[in-house]
Amino acid sequence: MKRTHNATDIDVSNIEQEVILSGWVDTRRDHGGLIFIDLRDRSGIIQIVFSPDVNLEAFHLAEQVRGEYVVAVRGKVSKRPQDTENPSLKTGEVEVYVEEMELLNAAKTPPFYIEDNVEVDELLKLKYRYLDLRRPEMQNNLMLRHRVIKTMRDYLDNKGFAEIETPILTKSTPEGARDYLVPSRVNAGEFFALPQSPQIFKQILMVAGTERYFQIARCFRDEDLRADRQPEFTQLDMEMSFIDEEDIFTIVEEMMAKIFEEGTNQEIKTPFPRITYNEAITKYGSDRPDLRFGLEILDLTELVQDVEFKVFASAIKSGGVVRALNAKKCGSFSRKEIDDLTNIAIENGAKGMAWIVVGENELKSPIIKFFEEEKLQSILKELEAEPGDLLLFSADSEDIVAKVLGVIRLELAKRLDIIDNNKLSFAWITDFPLVEYDAEEKRYVAVHHPFTAPKVNDIEEMINNPDSIKARAYDLVLNGIEIGGGSIRIHKRDWQEKMFALLGLTPEESQEKFGFMLEAFEYGTPPHGGIAFGIDRLLMLMAKRDSIRDVIAFPKTQKATCPMTEAPSNVNSKQLRELSIKLREQ
Ligand code: AMO
Ligand code: AMP
Repeated sequence: MKRTHNATDIDVSNIEQEVILSGWVDTRRDHGGLIFIDLRDRSGIIQIVFSPDVNLEAFHLAEQVRGEYVVAVRGKVSKRPQDTENPSLKTGEVEVYVEEMELLNAAKTPPFYIEDNVEVDELLKLKYRYLDLRRPEMQNNLMLRHRVIKTMRDYLDNKGFAEIETPILTKSTPEGARDYLVPSRVNAGEFFALPQSPQIFKQILMVAGTERYFQIARCFRDEDLRADRQPEFTQLDMEMSFIDEEDIFTIVEEMMAKIFEEGTNQEIKTPFPRITYNEAITKYGSDRPDLRFGLEILDLTELVQDVEFKVFASAIKSGGVVRALNAKKCGSFSRKEIDDLTNIAIENGAKGMAWIVVGENELKSPIIKFFEEEKLQSILKELEAEPGDLLLFSADSEDIVAKVLGVIRLELAKRLDIIDNNKLSFAWITDFPLVEYDAEEKRYVAVHHPFTAPKVNDIEEMINNPDSIKARAYDLVLNGIEIGGGSIRIHKRDWQEKMFALLGLTPEESQEKFGFMLEAFEYGTPPHGGIAFGIDRLLMLMAKRDSIRDVIAFPKTQKATCPMTEAPSNVNSKQLRELSIKLREQ
């Protein structure tokens, strides 16, 4: 029996037709005289019916099949009797009366129900990933992924981009995470690194005259895992020559509009708002602000610099800031709720969190006694305080205050349930600092990566004043998640060398690690720039999931393992010997 239709191709227009279907037994209900099976294939579900009056042999076979058996059936489509329609199924108006069934394969009882929204231990789900992937939701996620990647390819092809593969066995490049290493058998004692991104290769492709490159690129980073971080993940990686930031923004915005149109049938507004890094940190306490809601943070440093309140005064005196957040309508929060928030602030590095509850005629607060009436009124005015508001204050170094109020802002939004889940809030974050000082390593590190161009025309300025220099870098943020990042690059050898020096590399180290790139830069390198998107993160947001594991066919666990294949695993001593590797006693 060869299939004639997918399950959900069938509707009332097929009534009286004979069809052949194949798929899995989703559920089976025995109603004495009749047996109903929900037959599932990739497209979805259709009800098939077995009656001894139609075909006795098929009826007896239907008595024996169980969940997840694989079958092929031939039968006639008919309209379901009135009141037995199932509006939640695409095929809910019809059913197929089976005249012949072939059992293609039996199945063991699965270790969990193959159904959406059932609580199943994540490890078990990943061990039996092929069963988990049979769930309609997971099938949808895989199909969405396919469609999105196809849209990217089509769009970029149209814009003159060429898809070019770069090596997986490569040399370690610094992108901030730890490398996955691969020992070389032929060159004993030497290692390849798996790419953290194709960064250097795509720049070299610009030197090679490719002008417009893209790749759906697998990247590998050995870092601590989170819901939106996997040890291997996929980027849409792009690079262009003879362009500036505006060209990147335009192409990306148009592409995102296409992706959402094709992927989830959503219209998105372009151009995306642009926010500088400083503004994002001040107003939202984060360089990936969630803009689906307001709750903006206000800087009060200037306003309160002359107050007596020790906590504020000493923070400002030691170069810090005082910022506040008007948690609108939270005045009804209990003391315990306010204490909870304070504890969250403290867990994130604060020493405390001052607050004022604004009542109809009075203020409740442990700190107002430290303020003169006039000052108090200006603070209330600045925060646009109204009866029923809760005002929260943080005083400390700028880093701590931003982090603390950023976390509190997100926590309040969650508690107040003010995030509209259907909203898509994109924003470009621009004007990142070029470098930041790493106190532990006692050197500057690149905020984006060492190949990012500074926003200066004078090389000496970059060297003399690195703290105040901005980078020509940009991130794309969607609903509080960084989905992409890139920059205009340095394309001259002397600038790149100076940059490496600024980051603490000796000339010998730069030569050893990046000599090939520096040399390439001497052979006519066009000005260029690019960006890379986390495809898994983008899909997670499109599919409205909380973890990128749900949009990756075979993801790793939080501990970077694969429960299905049981990778990573031991290798035998012959393999190790060939690689000249000797394991240390654990
Ligand atoms: P960056 O390191 O910012 O830039 O990475 C680009 C995007 O990749 C996604 N991403 C991840 N997704 C899942 N798991 C991870 N462990 C992970 N790490 C990063 C994020 C991020 O925005 N070569 C540069 C790009 C460039 O300059 O063109 C780069 O890799 O969504
Ligand atoms: P104290 O004088 O230490 O009792 O603090 C008075 C109020 O200020 C309390 O509500 C503290 O939570 C709050 N507070 C303490 N340190 C800070 C800080 N760094 N920023 C904001 N509020 C603080």
